Amino acid sequence: MRRAFPLLFIVLAAPLFAVSCAELKQSRAILPVREYEKMIVGRLDAEYVGTDNCVSRCHRHDKLTDDFRRSVHGEQLRPEDGLPLVNCESCHGPGSLAIAKIGDDVEKNDLSKVKCDTTTFLDIMNLPPQAQSLICLKCHSTVSTPILTHWNASSHALNDVSCFDCHKLHQGPQQKVSREQMSELCFGCHPEIKAENNLFSHHPLREKKMACVDCHEVHGSVQEKLLKGSTVKETCTRCHMEKQGPFVFEHGDVTENCANCHAPHGSVNNNLLNAAMPFLCLQCHAGHSADNKQLFVNRCTDCHSQIHGTNSTAPAFNNNGTLRQ
Ligand code: HEC
Ligand code: HEC
Ligand code: HEC
Ligand code: HEC
Ligand code: HEC
Ligand code: HEC
Ligand code: HEC
Ligand code: HEC
Ligand code: HEC
Repeated sequence: MRRAFPLLFIVLAAPLFAVSCAELKQSRAILPVREYEKMIVGRLDAEYVGTDNCVSRCHRHDKLTDDFRRSVHGEQLRPEDGLPLVNCESCHGPGSLAIAKIGDDVEKNDLSKVKCDTTTFLDIMNLPPQAQSLICLKCHSTVSTPILTHWNASSHALNDVSCFDCHKLHQGPQQKVSREQMSELCFGCHPEIKAENNLFSHHPLREKKMACVDCHEVHGSVQEKLLKGSTVKETCTRCHMEKQGPFVFEHGDVTENCANCHAPHGSVNNNLLNAAMPFLCLQCHAGHSADNKQLFVNRCTDCHSQIHGTNSTAPAFNNNGTLRQ
């Protein structure tokens, strides 16, 4: 019952997102959760046979088996103490029919190269994304995996992105998305971010010194744009602590949202600025002349250098032209 509310939300909210998801994947009707649950039961006439049977009959020499054994999922396989247990069939469905025509003799199987009947498994790649995710969510409940608390309301879930789209479980022992491969994975579906990150001033994502998940919680968050923390400022000041404040002289309330002035992924302007000087400042302020000369002063921060706020109690406009604010 716990799931009923978020899913109701999906059912109601999904049509709103239909346009953007149509570009990415073919849109499908959103069904009640029990329909997806039915899809992941597998063949009712099949029995569970255990990983040893799957492996010895069909995947003895696969890299896949090797990787799986060394993966976090493979490590959960502990027949001696029972639970928790993850095996091939937890994701692929019961396997007795698949190996029905294959004998017990491992050596003979190797020689004859018989293959198991994969059509009797769950058609895992062709399930609707909601059903694909349910395969994972049946174990990864919010209780065991807190990062999934906001999954059902996340723009990824609402736009037909499933766990499989990011987690490639058989590409190696790694089940998480590695920081090394992350940017490329995300760029694949977010080419506009890749373009931004190629601009002159940028956070070092393509250099792999930072990762998207330093700022985003891709499984869903309480902030817009899947941001970490509860405000944009909080997202940024985890690293740029000196901009945190509070300052005696604040820059109005504008620094609450660093994105008022900064483009997080990249910009043609220095310092990731949204616009070049003086236009950045002129979006919110009228220009003015200095020292009674009627000249237009372009480099606002030459004088107003403490743009993020300061605690300095020096005169507002000191000798070297620094305006506290
Ligand atoms: C935690 C879930 C999970 C477990 C456990 C799991 N798989 Fe998979 N498997 C998947 C997913 C998801 C796919 C879809 C393709 C992909 O993401 O690589 C897949 C795909 C496959 C494929 C097709 C690969 C391809 O390239 O077409 C084979 C074969 C396979 N799994 C065998 C196994 C075997 C054997 C085991 C046990 C040793 C196993 N799987 C355990 C989730 C799982
Ligand atoms: C049968 C239960 C079960 C299923 C189904 C399952 N998992 Fe897991 N998974 C676990 C357990 C248990 C762990 C280890 C404990 C933990 O980290 O919560 C784990 C760990 C993980 C991790 C953490 C790996 C790490 O390096 O820390 C990832 C990522 C993951 N699973 C993804 C998935 C995805 C994606 C699916 C669906 C294709 C899936 N799991 C299906 C039980 C399961
Ligand atoms: C948009 C891509 C994306 C999707 C979709 C996605 N994940 Fe992840 N997942 C990631 C990334 C990236 C990480 C690594 C996060 C990190 O290192 O902080 C991760 C980490 C995890 C972890 C490890 C968490 C931990 O605390 O270490 C688990 C478990 C997991 N995901 C499960 C899932 C499940 C289950 C789903 C589907 C309901 C899912 N993910 C959907 C990208 C994704
Ligand atoms: C399979 C394609 C796919 C992958 C892979 C993917 N995304 Fe997405 N992402 C989407 C779709 C579709 C949306 C919702 C539509 C949109 O806003 O573009 C979305 C939305 C987002 C949003 C929120 C945008 C908003 O307006 O709310 C962020 C942030 C995001 N993705 C970050 C990431 C990150 C970081 C990764 C890599 C870990 C990633 N995505 C991987 C498809 C993907
Ligand atoms: C330094 C922090 C930071 C990093 C690192 C970061 N983002 Fe973002 N991202 C943001 C902020 C902040 C926003 C919201 C911008 C706004 O509201 O104007 C955002 C917005 C987005 C959006 C929504 C775009 C839109 O215009 O609505 C997507 C998609 C996205 N990010 C994807 C990514 C991907 C993919 C990566 C990794 C390659 C990444 N981000 C790395 C901070 C970051
Ligand atoms: C995970 C740590 C981290 C987070 C979070 C982070 N940054 Fe950064 N930021 C960096 C690093 C590292 C650099 C230095 C890049 C370099 O030297 O190439 C940087 C550089 C910058 C620069 C100077 C860029 C330049 O061209 O010199 C600005 C401006 C900036 N960040 C703003 C932000 C904003 C705004 C946010 C929040 C949306 C944010 N940062 C979040 C790590 C972070
Ligand atoms: C009112 C516009 C504005 C806002 C809002 C703003 N910045 Fe800046 N930021 C600037 C300007 C302008 C520069 C360039 C400074 C210069 O030219 O002296 C800059 C430079 C930076 C730099 C690189 C140089 C340095 O001082 O370290 C970082 C990092 C930075 N900002 C982080 C942030 C963070 C984090 C926030 C949110 C808490 C934020 N900024 C909000 C205007 C702004
Ligand atoms: C998003 C809008 C916005 C942007 C962009 C912006 N400011 Fe401001 N600024 C404000 C607000 C709001 C205040 C507070 C106004 C008030 O208290 O009357 C303020 C106050 C100021 C003050 C007066 C401080 C004081 O103590 O009276 C100065 C000086 C200033 N800004 C300079 C700049 C400069 C220079 C830039 C460009 C780097 C800039 N601002 C960009 C909104 C902005
Ligand atoms: C040559 C130095 C200099 C430059 C360059 C400069 N200012 Fe100023 N600014 C001042 C001085 C001096 C004051 C008045 C300080 C005071 O009265 O305490 C001031 C005051 C302000 C105020 C506060 C006005 C008020 O009524 O409280 C704003 C806003 C402001 N400047 C914005 C800008 C913007 C935007 C630019 C760039 C287009 C800019 N300044 C460029 C020196 C400069």
